[in-house]
Amino acid sequence: MSTTAVPPPGAPPAGDRAEAEIAALLQRSNQLGADRRVTNYAGGNTSCKVADVDPVTGAPRTLLAVKGSGGDLGTLRREGLAFLDADRLRLLDARWTPEADDDDMVRLVECCRCPDRPGAAPSIDTAMHGLLDAPHVDHLHPDAVIAFATAADGEALVRRCFGNEVGWVPWQRPGFALGRSIAELARRSPSLRGVVLGGHGLTTWGDTSDAARDASLEVIRRCERFIAEHGRPDPFGAAVAAGAPLEPARRRAIAAALAPLVRGLCSTDRRMVGHFCDDDAVLEFLSHEAATRLVPLGTSCPDHFLRTKVRPLLLDLPPGAPFEAQVERLRELHAQYRDDYAAYYARHATPDTPPMRGADPAIVLLPGIGMWSFGPDKQTARVAGEFYVNAINVMRGAEALSRYLPIDDAEKFGIEYWALEEAKLRRLPPPRRLAGRVALVTGAGSGIGLATARALAAEGAAIVAADLDAEAAARTAAELGGDDRAVALGADVSDENAVDAAVESACLAFGGVDLVVNNAGLSVSAPLTETTAEQWDLQYGVMARGSFLVSRAAARAMIAQGLGGDIVYVVSKNALVAGPDNVAYGSAKASQAHQVRLLAAELGRHGIRVNGVNPDGVVRGSGIFAGGWGARRAAIYGVPEEELGRYYASRTLLGIEVLPEHVAAAVLALCGGELPVTTGVLVPVDSGIPAAFPR
Ligand SMILES: NC(=O)c1ccc[n+]([C@@H]2O[C@H](COP(=O)([O-])OP(=O)(O)OC[C@H]3O[C@@H](n4cnc5c(N)ncnc54)[C@H](O)[C@@H]3O)[C@@H](O)[C@H]2O)c1
Ligand SMILES: [Zn+2]
Repeated sequence: MSTTAVPPPGAPPAGDRAEAEIAALLQRSNQLGADRRVTNYAGGNTSCKVADVDPVTGAPRTLLAVKGSGGDLGTLRREGLAFLDADRLRLLDARWTPEADDDDMVRLVECCRCPDRPGAAPSIDTAMHGLLDAPHVDHLHPDAVIAFATAADGEALVRRCFGNEVGWVPWQRPGFALGRSIAELARRSPSLRGVVLGGHGLTTWGDTSDAARDASLEVIRRCERFIAEHGRPDPFGAAVAAGAPLEPARRRAIAAALAPLVRGLCSTDRRMVGHFCDDDAVLEFLSHEAATRLVPLGTSCPDHFLRTKVRPLLLDLPPGAPFEAQVERLRELHAQYRDDYAAYYARHATPDTPPMRGADPAIVLLPGIGMWSFGPDKQTARVAGEFYVNAINVMRGAEALSRYLPIDDAEKFGIEYWALEEAKLRRLPPPRRLAGRVALVTGAGSGIGLATARALAAEGAAIVAADLDAEAAARTAAELGGDDRAVALGADVSDENAVDAAVESACLAFGGVDLVVNNAGLSVSAPLTETTAEQWDLQYGVMARGSFLVSRAAARAMIAQGLGGDIVYVVSKNALVAGPDNVAYGSAKASQAHQVRLLAAELGRHGIRVNGVNPDGVVRGSGIFAGGWGARRAAIYGVPEEELGRYYASRTLLGIEVLPEHVAAAVLALCGGELPVTTGVLVPVDSGIPAAFPR
């Protein structure tokens, strides 16, 4: 069939038809991408070709709309499409020679873009879409199909399952040459609706968008059915008693306890954020005898191993082993992993290979407990874990039918260190100041804590927003973007168990903690003679004791991580200045101020800096002021309550009203990386009050 056909008389103008086809393409992409069995996150691409007109020459052309580089099919929008002239792409095909350099071809494919239709950059799979004649093409990474693609006798299995309907293209690195192989096979065998790409995935096509989608879904369903009907019932072999999953609460407690160590090890080359997964698929895999044989084989689909690294680290101890033994063994296995990775690099690198990118594992498997996955941010870490679950599904299917045989290390290395992949990494914007850091902010539901959580998140930190008011904490976490950016905890900082549990939750959510802001606080103003013991205990409980408990629990995790850290106290001018009616609050703040110095002195050898900020007169946004303190202070100073912020400002050297954002900016200045040799200081954030100058 010709895709440059002149439209039949009475057909809508070319532009309208193109728009309709593009709309259908987006709808099909979203539908396919919504199901993780159809393709992994951000994996695969879809396209359509439609008769169109060159706006300059008025000549007919075939417009290729194809999902561009990056992004996910499930949420693909028009901006995510690349637009190319498919006729030009075919001219390029005529110039291709077996000696052609893949990277040069990518640059030439770029030259086939339609300048009148700006869009996303074309992906490496563009040639495959453009060179196939069919108007609609899907390229997907479905677990059930990759099971066939990585089975030792995959080609024979595809023939048995599909006869002449689906072909087989042996493993070939993605790129122009792979696109040509697929297109040639499709031309030679008109009965084909698609091909399984050895070691990699699936490409299907159709005359209409619906036909392409139906072909994709049908091939996937038939692979799933074939595995269910013809596969062994025990693809991972016998269950291993020692790897049996622990109870959920117990395995999460161990995962959290091991987290700082594991994260620290996996951050040897670069600071990583962690994601924990104890889904049934992971626990089942790890509790069967095949795991020890399959894990070292690593993943196969290029999308998978780019995120999971060539292979995971597998702890070879039962979950019930003593904690110290697990720690010891993880250290040994990590050192061995790094040696093995360096050897893999040395074995395959050529003088042109980019430098080694880091030798730490991205996936750590703990039998009976679950899986830790790591990435430079939470989303990347989570997706790496999801991809390993995809890989487990692939291995289960391949082992059910045959034997799992991923592409070999030399090919994996070629992709991992491909110049194009390197270029993609170089194009990434530089990481933000706090990228990869996990920050626990107490009292994050309101005022200064909320402003601080916002500021730290804006610089890339993953946030654990803790507050006595669980709903307020949840509002903060939701505002910051939800689970990949921030998690909420309801916790009373004066409660020892609650604080330990909060740090444990932080470890489970992100793998550890690097930065703590002791901000939770409250204030009760009363003259000495009217201050009750309860008021005293409450303020000492939250501020003196609370920040001690939080610092202690966090420092334990930081020391286990071995990555240094920051503890910042939100103290107060009142730690230094003796104001009226303030004995409990002011002296509790003085305790915090001295904790800063004591802990700076004690924790410096672990690379942990401890500093504080001394705000004053932050009326706007502050729950403390709204809750009665403001009214009493205003009465003491003889000003209307709504004038209090300005009144405080009028007493300062700079005369500027202090806002929560000013305090947040000071916290960020202390822990954002610009003051690496500063510890034990208190920074006033008070618009200038001589009596509060620290000395
Ligand atoms: N507002 C100011 O002018 C000012 C000046 C100096 C110091 N500070 C200090 O700044 C910090 C924040 O104050 P703010 O003005 O933003 O007040 P805020 O009331 O707006 O916020 C304090 C938060 O801490 C939480 N909190 C209270 N007790 C807690 C507990 N036991 N466990 C966990 N969370 C708890 C509250 O629920 C609230 O969300 C406090 O430590 C305060 O002493 C404030
Ligand atoms: Zn692919």
